[in-house]
Amino acid sequence: MKQKIKKLSNEVNAFKFESSDDVENFRIKYLSKKGLINSCFDDFKSVSPKDKKEIGKLLNQLKISAQKKVEGYNSKETNTKNHKKTINDITKPGEIISEGSRHPISIVRNRIVEIFSNIGFTISEGPEIEDDWHNFTALNLPEHHPARDMQDTFFIEKNPDYLLRTHTSSVQVRFMENNNPPIRTISPGRVYRNEAISARSHCFFHQIEGLCIDEDISFADLKQTLEYFTTELFGKSEIRFRPSYFPFTEPSAEVDVYWGLNNETDHKMTKGTGWLEIMGCGMVDPNVLKNCNIDHEKYTGFAFGLGIDRIALLLHQIDDIRLLSENDIRFLKQFRSSF
Ligand code: PHE
Repeated sequence: MKQKIKKLSNEVNAFKFESSDDVENFRIKYLSKKGLINSCFDDFKSVSPKDKKEIGKLLNQLKISAQKKVEGYNSKETNTKNHKKTINDITKPGEIISEGSRHPISIVRNRIVEIFSNIGFTISEGPEIEDDWHNFTALNLPEHHPARDMQDTFFIEKNPDYLLRTHTSSVQVRFMENNNPPIRTISPGRVYRNEAISARSHCFFHQIEGLCIDEDISFADLKQTLEYFTTELFGKSEIRFRPSYFPFTEPSAEVDVYWGLNNETDHKMTKGTGWLEIMGCGMVDPNVLKNCNIDHEKYTGFAFGLGIDRIALLLHQIDDIRLLSENDIRFLKQFRSSF
């Protein structure tokens, strides 16, 4: 048996490949199911137990060296083929490399991040899987608070609760726990709500949270900041605040920007009112500051949260939110941006 393996080994080593046909013949002769090496493996069954170890090793070495020989030839072959292809015809005009495009969500997010960075806001992020404390309790939404129903939550685990965050306000809490005022930060991210999917709403979407905490921050600062923001983003500075309710801000408001009623699209987009709702905001509730170990006697602040998807739909006049997550290349190719 040893003799036989040795003989085969020599044959394998001496075999010269001149063409891919040679390789195929070699493969059939030695490596195929009925090939010579496999027939040795059949004989191996009758080898005496004391020789098994040594002969087994030799056999495996033989098989591996035969396989390597074939692989070595094949990879050399593809290398030279590729090489030939690239230098085939140097007079040929260059191939057009099509430029990628950014996703509309990224375009809007990057633009908003830029606008706030310009006035000194830092960027912060938090996890999409959150615990109850950061998504609800610390935000002044204790257990059994009816406002928890405002946000249909996807729970991952109960007791202790883990969930998919329903808003980026959870990042406010994380940021305040880990940083001292003055704080100026925005937190972009994906959020999840257990809602029926339609042209208007999806079970996941994107928000940007804003948080500013310092001494003597007032509603006037919030107003100024948002006016600056809408002027930069939409080129429109007329905004209005409608009283609203969020457990983590007091007072709370929803912000509309005056879009105008100049044409049919304006009428459609603003439902004939000229106003577009763009975000929720308010002065951070002192209870939230307390929960995050910030001195609520000394500091005040404002927070806001806006939906990126909605703004992307508005800016690009897209009428179905589902297009944003379907990855249809014909849709995505239409967006060009330097952001
Ligand atoms: N978290 C709120 C929402 O998702 C938005 C918000 C953020 C409101 C910050 C006020 C302050 O609807």
